[in-house]
Amino acid sequence: MKKIKILFTAILIVLFTAARADEGMWLPLLLEKLNEKQMKSLGMKISASDIYNINKGSLKDAIVSFGGFCTGEVISSQGLVLTNHHCGFDAIQNHSTLEHNYIRDGFWSRNNGEELPNAGLFVTFIVRIEDVSTQALAGVSSSMSESERQSQIDKNLNQLKTTVKKESYQDSFVRGFFEGNQYYLFVTETYKDVRLVGAPPSAIGNFGKDTDNWSWPRHTGDFSMFRIYCGKDGKPADYSPDNVPFTPKKSLSISLDGVKEGDFTMVFGFPGRTTEYLPSPAVDQIMRVNDPAKISIRDKALGVIDGFMRKDEQIKIQYAAKYAGIQNAFKKWQGEVLGLNRTDGVGKKKTYETEFQKRVDADPKWKAVYGSLLSDLSALYKEFEPYALHRDYFNEIVGRIEIFGVYTQLNKLATIREKNGPEAFQKALPAAKGALSDFYKEYSPVVDRKLFEVLMKKFVEDQDPKFLDAGFLAKAKSYNGDYAKFAAEIYDSSALDESARILTGLDKDADLFIQLFRVDPAVKLYTQLAGAFNSTVVKKLNELQSKINQLQRTYMQAQMDVMKERKFYPDANSTLRVAYGNVKGYKARDAVEYTYYTYLDGVMEKYKPGDYEFDVPEKLRTLYANKDYGQYGAAGKMPVCFIAANHTTGGNSGSPALDAYGNLVGLNFDRVWEGTMSDINYDPSICRNIMVDIRYVLFIIDKYAGATRLVKEMKLVHPRKK
Ligand code: ARG
Ligand code: ASP
Repeated sequence: MKKIKILFTAILIVLFTAARADEGMWLPLLLEKLNEKQMKSLGMKISASDIYNINKGSLKDAIVSFGGFCTGEVISSQGLVLTNHHCGFDAIQNHSTLEHNYIRDGFWSRNNGEELPNAGLFVTFIVRIEDVSTQALAGVSSSMSESERQSQIDKNLNQLKTTVKKESYQDSFVRGFFEGNQYYLFVTETYKDVRLVGAPPSAIGNFGKDTDNWSWPRHTGDFSMFRIYCGKDGKPADYSPDNVPFTPKKSLSISLDGVKEGDFTMVFGFPGRTTEYLPSPAVDQIMRVNDPAKISIRDKALGVIDGFMRKDEQIKIQYAAKYAGIQNAFKKWQGEVLGLNRTDGVGKKKTYETEFQKRVDADPKWKAVYGSLLSDLSALYKEFEPYALHRDYFNEIVGRIEIFGVYTQLNKLATIREKNGPEAFQKALPAAKGALSDFYKEYSPVVDRKLFEVLMKKFVEDQDPKFLDAGFLAKAKSYNGDYAKFAAEIYDSSALDESARILTGLDKDADLFIQLFRVDPAVKLYTQLAGAFNSTVVKKLNELQSKINQLQRTYMQAQMDVMKERKFYPDANSTLRVAYGNVKGYKARDAVEYTYYTYLDGVMEKYKPGDYEFDVPEKLRTLYANKDYGQYGAAGKMPVCFIAANHTTGGNSGSPALDAYGNLVGLNFDRVWEGTMSDINYDPSICRNIMVDIRYVLFIIDKYAGATRLVKEMKLVHPRKK
């Protein structure tokens, strides 16, 4: 028995410490204290201060948050920014028409004058990060309710804001970390004139599309290029034709030497959201309830949209980004459930929790404060479950049917008129019209009507009727399962799906327009659905969520107190982080092991002439046939993608993968199928991030597109020849 116990403890220690070497998204300003030693032992040749330094240019000065949803990096002294094709996709799509189809054909500016401006797109640099936990939490006590606590923190942060040292053209914000146990201040610099410089055709930039998404082996050249412009004084400025290319404090050098198995790599970027510190019942719920529900709803939605996109080129352009977005999470959730199952994520959490509880129970001081934490959390999550499920249904269905989206936009405007009068209304009108006309550009009433038909059926038939409005339910049932008829009745009589009627109606007689808006059948239906949702779900959900937040915060603190041997990193929250790990393959399942590199040969193996996903442009086939790789090939082959054990998530797309010296070697864009559960329970055995080799990017720019002017701006190096 004793032997078993010793063995068990040994296993636990391995489980919680050594095995977690690759896990973590670390705060750049803490690298020196927490990570530098380990990074060097994994092969890093530079120091933490080369990565993050506020006194001189460091790598962090080349990293940008790209539009707040992806990452980008500066790769020339003239403000050239590299990010993923799927990150720049909205811009590529916005400039695309049936005549100039940049999605299909790619786009390459031949000089700075041809670079295309993108309203609304911005990049943000991080100037400085500071720990402001003491100030943020001043006067906060554990006896406070969540709302009391929040208002004390808000007060503190408002106070803090007035004392932050920064230039007039800089901004600052504060974010909570470790579930609100710590707070950090970020001073930032945002540039709003970001122009599209180049993008490969989708057959390269999104090669393999949805079939290959979230999977390895991968052969996607997922990149696009932009340039930051600024005022003549070098400072941030709104778009103007007079703006000039931005000179960065730091731009990345690019290595032409690639990486080998075991090499050190790090990924520097803006991971969006992870939840690594959930207790086992919460993880179980995600796997058993939420993910499967969302997957089955999206499956239906995707079926509808795909059907139209395949037969209509216009709809294909209109819905390309939307479709990719819906599909992306749909597929990720499937991988997540599979990976959590295969690695027994819940079982591992339970083992960890048993050890946690044992330690807590052994110490009266801890027992008093943390003793019932896990059982309280478990009870709360149980209560939360049906509400969370209905929330998912509402968001995935009512939130997907776009006629309801028009409601939300118009309702804002109508409310302004009703509450603040005609003058305020006129003032708000131009922006609202702009947003609506952007919306309609990517809207097809036929697609939406079909979505309504298919999704409403699910909404009614799958759900516990107690969450639904009785009047709505009676109406839905009156169609006897003929949801096409239900859809026809709404869409035939509503004006909301008709862009011309809405946009001209707003100009003509606003009073009349709002009267009509309030009685529009789609509006009445939405009001009914949202009303029931707010009264039966939202109120309770918020109440439970606030209790959960409070306990999760305590649980986070408790783990830091009790599991002393574990090194903790904060969950992703769209702030700048560093992840690091070595280049390596992985064992996907019984008898299946993957190596870490792919080559252009693999693109050709997947090539299916004329296929929607796997066609290969003729020029690329010719370059391959002639092995015409220029300085970018390696031993007669063209490297395409590679994988490594960097802990990344959504938002890390476009992040640079850097070698031991801090040179750019790849561009992060995805994770492997079995490891997508890394957002919830990172497992070093199968979690890998996927990067496109920078040499493939350069090969496409230079040899494929002939945009040699761009390569000339960059600094190419050979670190292995040192
Ligand atoms: N899965 C990657 C990420 O989460 C890439 C998505 C873009 N590609 C696609 N086929 N949808 O963003
Ligand atoms: N593809 C993701 C992104 O867009 C990255 C990931 O989730 O691994 O950020």
